[in-house]
Amino acid sequence: MDENILIKNAKIVDEGSIVESDVLIRKGIIERIDPSISLPVGTRLILADNQYLLPGVIDTHVHFRDPGLTDKADFATESAAAAAGGVTSVIDMPNTLPPALTPELLEEKFGIAAQKSSVNYSFMIGASESNLEDILRADPARVAAVKVFFGSSTGDMALKDPEAIERLFVSSPLLIAAHCEDDARIAGNLAKAREEFGEDIPAAMHARIRDEEACLRSSSAAIDLAKKTGARLHLLHVSSACELNQLSSMKPGSYKKITAEVCTHHLFFDERDYATLGNLIKVNPSVKSEEDREALWEALRSGRIDTIGSDHAPHTAQEKARPYLKCPSGGPMIQHTLPAMLSEVVKGHFTLEQVVEKMCHNPARIFQIERRGFLREGYFGDAVLVEFNSPWRVRRESLKYKCGWSAFEGRMFPARITHTLVGGQLAYAEGKLYPVTSPAALTFER
Ligand code: DOR
Ligand code: ZN
Repeated sequence: MDENILIKNAKIVDEGSIVESDVLIRKGIIERIDPSISLPVGTRLILADNQYLLPGVIDTHVHFRDPGLTDKADFATESAAAAAGGVTSVIDMPNTLPPALTPELLEEKFGIAAQKSSVNYSFMIGASESNLEDILRADPARVAAVKVFFGSSTGDMALKDPEAIERLFVSSPLLIAAHCEDDARIAGNLAKAREEFGEDIPAAMHARIRDEEACLRSSSAAIDLAKKTGARLHLLHVSSACELNQLSSMKPGSYKKITAEVCTHHLFFDERDYATLGNLIKVNPSVKSEEDREALWEALRSGRIDTIGSDHAPHTAQEKARPYLKCPSGGPMIQHTLPAMLSEVVKGHFTLEQVVEKMCHNPARIFQIERRGFLREGYFGDAVLVEFNSPWRVRRESLKYKCGWSAFEGRMFPARITHTLVGGQLAYAEGKLYPVTSPAALTFER
């Protein structure tokens, strides 16, 4: 059901400025942004005095596990967590079961999301040694990108054949989103760790096993190939300082053909956290040193890194309690990425305008998402209201994830999300989730 909403007296954060205004959303669309809009009949009023209105977050890197891995997560639970975290659109990865390697398998995922999702959605198609034809058949107006695993990770989707890789780079009509880690380097490091520790490898060794050299070798090869072929490359979860010199600090747009993402865990955890969190922060690529973490923040500020993704990749608590060698990589992040970023705003390390640039505007620009990612008249009513000076602690009871755990448990955040609107409907307000009919498949201007 369409719901009309008037948000009054919000501080609107958009395109580098903060302006106090009212926003009227009708039939799912932002109809007017104006400092003095009177309440039309039959319209819900949200008084936003002292609150900031941001475009809804677009998280272009999630693993919602549906279909096939729904003991870990599913589209209903994780999209609810997304809404609670101020995320209004997600792009889901192909390492589901079966892996999403054809347009037909993607259509099944669109069907699942249409039934279950609380937020807008699209999907990446996976790349295998033999599915180039399928990638060429994918609809660029509906499919977000092609995901290439240059190294092995959860789901065993690594693309190893150099010829298949080059063919993809030469002919992909879609943006190529790349997971870059060098398998041979990792195998060598793992063999050394086994010599030292046997089968009982400490979690902190993850940073040595999946080290910065493994990332650099793989990402520099991907960048070289993109430059040679002219392919549009988006490097996923950049995690180390040594990779950053390869990235330019231009604004994303037609002239910046190689763009990059950083993920929540690489910004908010570092090597020192393995002592307390152990395998809970075992993710691929690994969480690395404090220096790496600081360099990633600097690269975000300078523009070398363009987007922030959550890499929300839940596994069950039982799986994460296993010893290092048997513990899968990944963890749930989507509900706490925006609150964690707001805590950096409070500390003065990052501005609210930069949060919006990296989490809303740039994902929309890079993926060419139609009419989302900005608060503009005529755009979809995807928005999030946040309140500062409203501290809260992450507690297990408040987690919306099916897996029921978070590496952020116990952390205090100084700002909270009060309302999330998806396509003009309230999906989340004051701690409560609401059923929504508004979520839609994203469309792309290509
Ligand atoms: O840590 C990770 N988890 N990295 C990946 O590449 C995949 C992801 C997952 O799906 O669990
Ligand atoms: Zn991922």
